[in-house]
Parts: sequence; C-alpha cells; structure tokens
Amino acid sequence: MKPTKVTLTFDNDNAPIELPILSGSLGSDVIDIRSLGKHGVFTYDPGFLSTASCSSDITFIDGDEGLLYYRGYPIEQLAEHCDFMEVCHLLMHGELPDKEQKKQFTSLISGHSMLHDQLTNIFRGFRRDAHPMAVMVGVVGSMSAFYHDSIDVTDKLSREVSAYRLLAKVPTIAAWSYKYNIGEPFMYPQNRFNYAENFMHMMFATPCEAYEPNPILAKAFERILILHADHEQNASTSTVRLAGSSGANPFACVAAGIASLWGPAHGGANEATLKMLEEIGDVSRIGEYIKRAKDKTDSFRLMGFGHRVYKNMDPRAAIMRHTCHQVLDELGLHNDPMFKLALELEKIALEDEYFVSRRLYPNVDFYSGIVMRAMGIPNCMFTAIFALARTAGWVAQWSEMISDPEVRIGRPRQLYTGSQRRDFVPIELR
Ligand code: CMC
Repeated sequence: MKPTKVTLTFDNDNAPIELPILSGSLGSDVIDIRSLGKHGVFTYDPGFLSTASCSSDITFIDGDEGLLYYRGYPIEQLAEHCDFMEVCHLLMHGELPDKEQKKQFTSLISGHSMLHDQLTNIFRGFRRDAHPMAVMVGVVGSMSAFYHDSIDVTDKLSREVSAYRLLAKVPTIAAWSYKYNIGEPFMYPQNRFNYAENFMHMMFATPCEAYEPNPILAKAFERILILHADHEQNASTSTVRLAGSSGANPFACVAAGIASLWGPAHGGANEATLKMLEEIGDVSRIGEYIKRAKDKTDSFRLMGFGHRVYKNMDPRAAIMRHTCHQVLDELGLHNDPMFKLALELEKIALEDEYFVSRRLYPNVDFYSGIVMRAMGIPNCMFTAIFALARTAGWVAQWSEMISDPEVRIGRPRQLYTGSQRRDFVPIELR
C-alpha cells in the first residue's frame, strides 16, 4: 500500500509535523510541505533537485526510463505522425485537433504572423552584430508595448489572443533577428507555407528570387520544433511561470523565458556543442577534451552531454540522431567531418567510466546543432530556434499557471548565511 502521509520528527522537544503525500497520474509522489512555514521551518533545495514547484497536466518525463509525453502522447509518436501546429494545439488545448479544428487553429496562427510595422524600428535600434538571442529578448519584451490590447491577464480571451500572438510572431522575430544581423531585407511571412516552411522562407529567402523549401529539410525542421516544444518544469519554463505568478503580462514572461534559455547549461547548449566540435576539430584530439571534461579543476564540460532529469538516453536525442542521418543523406553529407567527429566523441564518451558512472548520455542538443548546421542554419540561430519551438510550451504552461486557482505569487525562502545584526559605523571610522 502506498503511504499517504509522512511524519517529520525533530531531535529536540519540537512536536512532530505530519505532512500529506500527494500522488499524480504518473511519476513520483510528492510530500506536500506547504504547511511547514507555519511551524517556523523551511526546506532547503537549491537548484530544485527534489522539489516539485507546481502541478501540471501538460508534460510528463520519466528520466530513468527515458520517457517524454506531451498530454499523455509519447514524443516518438508525435514526432512521427504530427506537424507542429497539431502539437501546439495539443499543448495549449489538451487534445490533438480534428481536421476542422486544425484548419481553424492554423489559420488563426498564420493570421497573426505579421509584426506591427513600428516593430521594425526596434530591430533597427540594435547593433548589426548583436546576437539573435539578445535581439529576441528585447523584441519579444517590447511586444507588450505593441499589443497592449491583449495584456489583461484576468481576461480569458485576452490570454488566448496573446498566446496566439506569441506563437505566430516569435518565428518572424527570430528570422528577422538573423536577417538584421546579416544585413538582408526582412522577409514577410507567407501564409501559403506551413509553420516550419514559413520560418525557413523568412530565414533563407530574399526578395530577388522565388523560394521553395526542400520538403525533407522542412520535415526535419518540423521535428526539431516538435522535440523542443515543451519539457516540463525546466529553467526557462519555471522562469516564465515565476515571472507570470506576479500577474506580469505573457510577453514580458516569455521574454524572461528566452533570457533563461540562452544559458549554455540550457538552450544555449546546441550552439555551445557546435563550437566545442569546431574547437576539437579532429578525432585525434578527442582524448584531450574527454580528459578536460573529467578534470574537476577545469570548468570545461562536454557540451550536449548530461541532463538533470534523464539518467538514461534522452528520448529526443534518439529521434534527433535518426533525423541527423536522414538530413545528411538527403544533402549527401554523410562523410561530413563534423558529423564523424560527433559520432566518435559520442562512442568514446559512452564507453568511458566517468560518463557511464554518472549516467551522462548525449542530450537532444548534441544532435540538433549538427542537423541545423547541415541545413545551412548558422550557429548563432540554434538557440533562437529552440526559443521559437519552446514558445509553444511556455504559453501552454503560462496559461495553465494563470488559470490555476491554487497559484500564488512564487516567493521562495532562503537559508541566510550573512552577518548577524551589527551597528552602523561612520565612514571616517571604518
Ligand atoms: N561534462 C562533464 N561532466 C559532467 C557533465 C558534462 N557535460 N554534466 C555533468 N557532469 C558531471 C558533473 O561534474 C558532476 O560530477 P561530480 O558528481 O563528480 O561532481 C555530475 O556529472 C553531475 O552533474 P551536475 O552538474 O550535478 O548535474 P546537473 O543536473 O546539475 O546538470 C546539466 C545538468 C545538463 C546542466 C549538465 O549535465 C551540463 O552542464 N551539461 C552540459 C550542457 C548541456 O548539454 N545542456 C543541455 C541540456 S538538454 C537541453 C535542455 O533541455 O535545456
């Protein structure tokens, strides 16, 4: 029989505290510690190693088994059979759409894909060599100044409109961040394309020539979007939820999520992986880098390896590895030296005791960078593409959070380790 409560006892005269145990529909049970503060104690868990920050119906991960479900559907099935719009509908509304719902949803999103014309001035305020992620944080944040008719978070319709606007406009913003960077004219969205093709069009087309996306590459790109769409309570999603818990508008919250995603331990890992492979340069130097990754006095880590939750193969990595082969075949790049180097690095690390004992496996970012590079996407856009895919998860998680009656402003406590009370000393006596 499963336990339903746990008793916390102290090694002094303090009375024991009884805490309920909550069960979800899948996964580990959680101890409900909300009443602890009333007893004058808090829990200590930097990095949330053992803390569930919310309840959610959206995404389930089993790190030991290597499982990832969106609304109950295994990621493998969604990546194989769905397009990104169906996955967005699933994440936002809880169910896969039927044909009519899909048509309506897709046309709603494409109807919002253009940007307010004044927004082009915001782009022009940036340096040309600004990183696309820096531009995205700024431009997405500025959306609340352009679409303030949909920032009343207490209004259901407003919330939906802002969610649609984010899904529709973030690809345009991401593509334009790149166009601005390389000095090419902004390409407007084309509603005849699907979501993935449209992004490729806005990135690669120019006004001088007709552009038709390669269907195999568009399919691979769609898969990248699906695999990155949501991932439970990761750093950027938790950032979006925490920012939103104060009632901040969704554009500001998603801008905060983009900032959090940028770090190399999170979404920035795809760009960092490619940089690392370029730096290693040749199979003969792999040993040197493996040695550095194991050296505790060296801050170097093998990028694209390890995950907080997956202690078995990241299921997204397995799908992306397969996609990697398909894309390289299509492009005749199977002998691409970078891909060969990645495969060799993967093999050596998977056999090394250091990585095996710590259960450090390649994650999705290990392969996604190689796929995107082969598609002609520059390194600086990898994390921006992750951000546009994850916008689907962020808006779904934000919407769930804001309509949850249990939600209160996120306000963690701390273990204070600073000075005890002391008295002010005038400057001349310090
Ligand atoms: N290379 C070398 N050692 C590593 C690595 C790595 N990539 N990742 C973890 N370790 C070691 C770490 O030094 C520690 O060793 P020890 O127990 O001897 O002190 C042990 O493994 C546990 O690591 P941790 O830092 O406590 O694990 P974490 O859960 O806090 O960090 C992680 C998870 C993903 C931040 C980390 O594995 C990492 O920095 N990986 C490289 C960056 C990366 O690829 N990130 C993308 C994650 S997937 C995309 C996403 O969802 O954002």
